[in-house]
Amino acid sequence: MESLMTLSARASPSPLQQQRRLPGRQRATPVRATATGEPDLSVRVNGLQMPNPFVIGSGPPGTNYTVMKRAFDEGWGAVIAKTVSLDAEKVINVTPRYAKLRAEPNGAAMGRIIGWQNIELISDRPLETMLNEFKKLKKEYPDRILIGSIMEEYNKAAWHELIERVEGSGVDALEINFSCPHGMPERKMGAAVGQDCDLLEEVCGWINEKATVPVWAKMTPNITDITQPARIALKSGCEGVSAINTIMSVMGINLKTLRPEPCVEGYSTPGGYSARAVHPIALAKVMQIARMMKEEFADGQSLSAIGGVETGNDVAEFILLGADTVQVCTGVMIHGYPLVKKLCAELQDFMREHNFSSIEEFRGASLPYFTTHTDLVHRQQEAIKQRKAIKKGLQSDKDWTGDGFVKETESMVSN
Ligand SMILES: Cc1cc2nc3c(=O)[nH]c(=O)nc-3n(C[C@H](O)[C@H](O)[C@H](O)COP(=O)(O)O)c2cc1C
Repeated sequence: MESLMTLSARASPSPLQQQRRLPGRQRATPVRATATGEPDLSVRVNGLQMPNPFVIGSGPPGTNYTVMKRAFDEGWGAVIAKTVSLDAEKVINVTPRYAKLRAEPNGAAMGRIIGWQNIELISDRPLETMLNEFKKLKKEYPDRILIGSIMEEYNKAAWHELIERVEGSGVDALEINFSCPHGMPERKMGAAVGQDCDLLEEVCGWINEKATVPVWAKMTPNITDITQPARIALKSGCEGVSAINTIMSVMGINLKTLRPEPCVEGYSTPGGYSARAVHPIALAKVMQIARMMKEEFADGQSLSAIGGVETGNDVAEFILLGADTVQVCTGVMIHGYPLVKKLCAELQDFMREHNFSSIEEFRGASLPYFTTHTDLVHRQQEAIKQRKAIKKGLQSDKDWTGDGFVKETESMVSN
C-alpha cells in the first residue's frame, strides 16, 4: 500500500520544490462520503494524508511526548510541536506568563475566556530531548503527521544544522516560526524576520535549499500587509503558509497596583494575543492570503489557518475562505484534547446541512464574495435602481400574477 507520506507530482513546482520533488496540495480524488455515509473530513495537503483538517498549533499542546501522544490518541489530524531551536539554554521563561480576558463585565472571574495573552518563549527543553521524543512518536504513530516547528538566529549554518537534525528525527514537515511577537528580537528571531521582507527572503532561501520535507512559513499578523511576507515565503519555495501567530498585545493594567499584566517582579512586556477574540482578525488575514494565493500561485501551495478556533463553525469559516488545514492552540489549553471530537462532529453537522460530502466541495466557496468598498457602493446603487424600477409598476398587463396580485396593485397606487 502506498505510504501516507508518499510524495507525488504537484501542479506547478518551483525549481527548489522540483529539486526536492515535493508535491503541493493534492486535490483528493473526489471523495463523496465515507463508507458509513458520513461526510468525509480527510484531507491531503502537500502530500500529507490526514484523517481530518484539525492540527495542534505550535505551543503548550505540543510541548512534549506525553501531550503529543495524547493529541494523536484523541484523533487530531496532525500535531505541530512547540518551536525548537539549537540552543535551549538561551531560552529563559518567566512566570506568570499568561493572562486572560473574560467576557463578563470588568473581566469578572467566572466569565467565559475570550482573549489570552502569553509572553512564553519557544521551547526551553533541550533540542536532543525533543528530537528523541519526535522519533519515539513517529515510531509509535508512523501514519500520523508530526510537524516540527523551528526558529533560529540569522545564521545560515545554524538554520541548516537545525533543519538537518529536526528532519533526522523523522518529522513529516517543517513549520518555520517567523512570527513569535515577543522575546529574542535582539537575536533576529521569529517576528524580527517575518516583519522584514528582505531578511525573510534570504532566510527562506537558506531554508528551502536545505529542507527535503514540505515547509510551511508561519506568518505574523503584526504587519500592515500580511500578503507581502506570505508571497515572499511562497516565491522562495515554501510549500505553504500558516497564519496567524499571536497579535501584539498588552492585556491590561492592574488598577490597584497600577502595574501592567502579566506582572513579573512588578514589570511586564507586550505579549501575544490569542483565543476567541482574535478569530475575526485571523479570518481577515487568512482571506487576504487566500486571495493572493489564488491570484498569483498555481493551485499547489497550501494554507493553514489559525486563530481563535473553538467550534466546528469557526473551522468551517476558515475552510470557506480557502484554508486546507486549521490549527488550534489556545482552544486546546482551555478545553483539552477531546475538543477535536466536538470539532469533527460540528464540522460534519455543517457539511450535512449543506449537503457537502467532502472538505474540497466547499473549500474557498466564500472567497469570491469579497470585493472592494467601491464595488459595494456600485452594487447597492444598482440594486436600489432595480427596486425603484419594480416599484414603478407593471410594464404590461401580462405581468400580473396571482400570488403577488395585491402587492402589484399597491405598487401602482400614486400616494
Ligand atoms: C502559550 C502559547 C505559546 C505559544 N507558543 C508558540 C510557539 O512556540 N511557536 C509558534 O509558532 N506559535 C506559538 N504560539 C502561537 C499559536 O500557535 C497560535 O498561532 C496562536 O496562539 C493563535 O491561535 P489560537 O487562538 O488557536 O491560540 C503560542 C501560543 C500560545 C497561547
